[in-house]
Amino acid sequence: MEPEHILSDTETAAIREIYRHFPEKSAACIEGLKVIQQHHRWVSDQAVRELAEILDMSPAAIDSVATYYSLIFRRPVGRNVIFLCDSVSCWIMGYDQIAACVKKQLAISYGETTSDDRYTLLTIPCLGTCDHAPAMIINEDLHRDLTTENVAAILNTYG
Ligand code: FES
Repeated sequence: MEPEHILSDTETAAIREIYRHFPEKSAACIEGLKVIQQHHRWVSDQAVRELAEILDMSPAAIDSVATYYSLIFRRPVGRNVIFLCDSVSCWIMGYDQIAACVKKQLAISYGETTSDDRYTLLTIPCLGTCDHAPAMIINEDLHRDLTTENVAAILNTYG
């Protein structure tokens, strides 16, 4: 069961400050979701309700913004979130082999998190670095020119 309030005073203050600078509610909403995610890794229903209260929006409106942005997580994720590019140039340049390596090494499939909470594996459309396909993002880091030889070492650098 979730506690009555999960946003800390610091988070609430940060979101109120954002709201002051972004009178446009949808912009404040995105930034508020980011604040929550920075502190909790993901955005729970309770967090959505609290953000809705601060921004004077409905939880449903917050939820639809959160759902629209693939980088906002509405389910728990691991400490490191891997987004493997799943678009044409990466397919041509060996996406299947890279995906197989990653899944095998982590023993998970898309949408899953390793049992030690270390990695979550997701896909993402073209990362805009097609000339260096295949590519993936881990947290905020872009990794390009992936090969079946280098991908394991890259994953291992994330604790
Ligand atoms: S298709 Fe993967 S970076 Fe463009």
